[in-house]
Amino acid sequence: MSFISDADLMALALEAREKSYSPYSHFAVGAALVDKNGNVYQGCNIENAAYSACVCAERSAFFKAVSSGVTSFEKIAIVGGKAGEKPTEVAAPCGVCRQVMREFCKPDQFRVLLGTSPDDCKSYLLEELLPVSFGPENLQEA
Ligand code: THU
Repeated sequence: MSFISDADLMALALEAREKSYSPYSHFAVGAALVDKNGNVYQGCNIENAAYSACVCAERSAFFKAVSSGVTSFEKIAIVGGKAGEKPTEVAAPCGVCRQVMREFCKPDQFRVLLGTSPDDCKSYLLEELLPVSFGPENLQEA
């Protein structure tokens, strides 16, 4: 059962994108992450003059949730594109963000919504975006 529709979650990702702090790349990204109870955590990319300190929108949403004590998730919507303009293309999550998703989400259940608007989004399973992955179970026997 889903608490929030894919279209509504995309709208919340677009809203989050408005908060993007991206003065260096001028590429604004927003994310909206739903937990297993239907709570939504929004995130945006936050850049830094020391470039390595930049954080992606997806991770800012995950870190907001995890630091609130939440570690079970259902799906995430992601939108991105040139700051100040409507997104025109899919903004796929970077490899680091996919790995952060892998830490907390079941690859065959967690869904990643990519698109440009509430009317234009496609749903992927995490395992499609990060096949043959390494996760917490791999360290259980270690
Ligand atoms: N960015 C994200 O927020 N998410 C991604 O998965 C890819 C890239 C941000 C980071 C940086 O602020 C800008 O987009 C350009 O790379």
